[in-house]
Amino acid sequence: MNSLFVDNTVFITRLKAGHIGRLVQALFEEWHGFEPWSSVDKIHAYYGRCLKDDELPLAFAAVDDSGILLGSATVKRHDMESFPQYEYWLGDVFVLPEYRGKGIGRRLVAHCIGAARSLGIKFLYLYTPDVQIFYESFGWAVVGRHFHNGEWVTVMRLDVDKV
Ligand SMILES: CC(C)(COP(=O)(O)OP(=O)(O)OC[C@H]1O[C@@H](n2cnc3c(N)ncnc32)[C@H](O)[C@@H]1OP(=O)(O)O)[C@@H](O)C(=O)NCCC(=O)NCCS
Repeated sequence: MNSLFVDNTVFITRLKAGHIGRLVQALFEEWHGFEPWSSVDKIHAYYGRCLKDDELPLAFAAVDDSGILLGSATVKRHDMESFPQYEYWLGDVFVLPEYRGKGIGRRLVAHCIGAARSLGIKFLYLYTPDVQIFYESFGWAVVGRHFHNGEWVTVMRLDVDKV
């Protein structure tokens, strides 16, 4: 499967039902220590909610030219209960381990910014434990640090119109 992947053949689409099984398995393996990702059933139910047309959460999939899932990211509302004043968030940015470092994360994030812009979203928030530099390269700025789901994370804000 890996050998078929060439990084100039990445497409970003809406997440489809057929992607969910692989995505759930990979997310559970990576993040099961964090409460929202601690059960396969819970993750499955979450992505099921992402399949509804034109309603947040909107999940996007990176796929290769055979339709193989490479990664996913979501535009969602209120990802952190501690910040009810921050409405729109980029979340669940995830590239399957075997496809990392090939520009797929960057493609997914750029696509989500474009989706947010077309929805009229002005500010897009996110939190990250350890890849602040990755998001700063798009223009996200640090809002603060917060203890969340058992770890310290950096909360960041993007002014979508300035990208
Ligand atoms: C973080 C992640 C989404 C990046 O996706 P990717 O496809 O591997 O990244 P890309 O190849 O698009 O790299 C984009 C840039 O980010 C940098 N980068 C990637 N992973 C990084 C990391 N873990 N730490 C710091 N920088 C990183 C790359 O060096 C690259 O920089 P460049 O464009 O200047 O060369 C991916 O590694 C992943 O899924 N990690 C596990 C889950 C995770 O941490 N998600 C983010 C939650 S906030």
